[in-house]
Amino acid sequence: MSKPFYVTTPIYYVNDRPHIGHTYTTVLADVVARFHRMRGEEVYFLTGTDEHGQKVEKAAAARGITPKQLADEVVANYTDLWQRMGMTHFRLIRTTDQDHKEQVQRLFQRLLDKGDIYKATYKGLYSVSDEAYVTEMQAKELQAQGLAHQLVELEEETYFFRLSAYQDRLLAYFEAHPGFVQPDFRFNEVKRFVEGGLQDLSISRTSISWGIPVPGDEKHVIYVWFDALLNYLSACPANCWPPDLQLVGKDILRFHAVYWPAFLMSAGMFLPETILAHGWWLMGDDKMSKSKGNVVRPDTLLRFGNDALRFFFMREMQVGHDRGFSFEGFMDRLNADLANGLGNLASRTLSMIQRYRGGLVPIPALPDEQDQEMATRLLEVFPEYLEKARANDFHAALDALWSYLRALDGYIVKAEPWKLAKDPANDPKLDAVLANLYRALRATALLVAPVMPALAQSLWESLGHADQVAARTFHGFALDGPAIGPIGESKPLFQRIDKEKEMSELEAAEAPIETKATLDVPEIRETVDAESFFKVDLRVGRILEAERVPKSDKLIKMKVDLGIEQRTIVGGIGKAYEPDQLLNRLVVVVANLAPRKLMGIESHGMLLAASDNASKPYLVAPPDDAQPGFLVK
Ligand code: MSP
Repeated sequence: MSKPFYVTTPIYYVNDRPHIGHTYTTVLADVVARFHRMRGEEVYFLTGTDEHGQKVEKAAAARGITPKQLADEVVANYTDLWQRMGMTHFRLIRTTDQDHKEQVQRLFQRLLDKGDIYKATYKGLYSVSDEAYVTEMQAKELQAQGLAHQLVELEEETYFFRLSAYQDRLLAYFEAHPGFVQPDFRFNEVKRFVEGGLQDLSISRTSISWGIPVPGDEKHVIYVWFDALLNYLSACPANCWPPDLQLVGKDILRFHAVYWPAFLMSAGMFLPETILAHGWWLMGDDKMSKSKGNVVRPDTLLRFGNDALRFFFMREMQVGHDRGFSFEGFMDRLNADLANGLGNLASRTLSMIQRYRGGLVPIPALPDEQDQEMATRLLEVFPEYLEKARANDFHAALDALWSYLRALDGYIVKAEPWKLAKDPANDPKLDAVLANLYRALRATALLVAPVMPALAQSLWESLGHADQVAARTFHGFALDGPAIGPIGESKPLFQRIDKEKEMSELEAAEAPIETKATLDVPEIRETVDAESFFKVDLRVGRILEAERVPKSDKLIKMKVDLGIEQRTIVGGIGKAYEPDQLLNRLVVVVANLAPRKLMGIESHGMLLAASDNASKPYLVAPPDDAQPGFLVK
């Protein structure tokens, strides 16, 4: 029996509910899994949760519950979400599962017996927030960032893994396997890191009790990353090893591309085929974080449908790169590609086949040059899509397919089937056009099935099929084969989103639910030099007029006097302030910020505000005797 295609996601920490970052990775893995099934392969898709460590221990203690109780609570969010989203993983492994704990202890013992794990005393610096030993170089970096308070002096007994012994072997392996880490620029970072020298890695802690005990030396628990990485092994059935594709975010690549292969080499096991590091979903240019209150939860987006979210993720994110998320961008993409693009093409095509041919798909007898060109493009785009998807580049695959769909729109406009239908002499041309459109949609349903399972099935049925499109395989699919029967009932594929209406509802849905009693003080940002800071023109302004932006409960449009000119500024302060409260107020304005449009209104400048955990704004106020136009510096 051939080996199943084995794909994994990272296992998620249980200190937070899933957000769109976690959802993205799992969707990508599910799309890959479904794609490989439609290539006729057996697939084993694994996801899970990472439950041990100090953070979980502390969070549970703060709530007066056990770490396991906390983990059970959070894991329920994951299982529920993945189930609602129809994820096709075989198992959600938890690091608290008994078989995993045994596996970790077995492997620890094996490497200990081999001499690759040894006990010694560590004396040096320790970062409390990273739960990791810190080299002198790293300590200097932290000090430069003003984070010295995170460091403590430590002397303790610990088990080390002999990572330094694997430096050359890893480099040789990298050399021999140029596709081991993708994309290339990330692989280069990994290589540079290893070339820079590897130190032995501490893989046990005595300061923590919530973890898997070191066999025979129970006051030590096994370091979370040693524990976590082995999940891929614990959950792997006998015929599955090694993983074909391991999806990870860029932040955890080093663990997967350096430590993990070294552990496996030491255990004498095969290494994964490919580790693919994806970038991050950002909010504007910022990281999503609870303390910034800018975390987007999947449920906020799932009300537009599971397939819509899956499509958006795959279409927008170029794997490897970061991508800024915005609700507007989300809705624009869906309206353009699903409501207009594919949705429109499908409904036009199906209604023309119904109207002009009584629902029977014609067989083209005399295609002209234009028809042939479109037929040829289908023959080209089909393998192109499959090749890109096989390389996990769904962004490029969908891009190629959608540009073909756009070309079909142009083809319809040129051919004007509604005119052709008026004269039976044009029948051969009309037949050719309708057949081409039908075949394009049929191929599209098949190709997008891994990305949008339900939408693809609905399209497939509208085209007259009774079977499951996902049960088909790409291989041997007859692109120009005749239709199997009359077309089915045409269902709208995707309901156009009323953007303005949804924007205000989305804003409300993202309202501060995560208010905490105490302030989670965000870390100080990166240092900027004085010259860069003084480029920002801060002015005292006075609010002359203020009104709510229609259909938004967050945005307020203001006229602000800056002493030398008056500005229109739209601010997201509507949940904290009523327009009346703002009149005549003195504020601090970022006066040289590039103008931008917010719900159709050009906003020129920004008001400075302090904010709490929940991002509630507190307008910064100059003293009463300051006047509009004063520079703030
Ligand atoms: N528990 C470790 C992984 C252990 S794997 C053996 C962990 N967990 S995590 O929950 O913090 O992160 C899981 C994954 O989510 C990581 O791959 C991380 O890159 C990804 N993401 C977290 N925020 C993200 C975005 N904003 N965007 C995309 N993915 C992001 O790390």
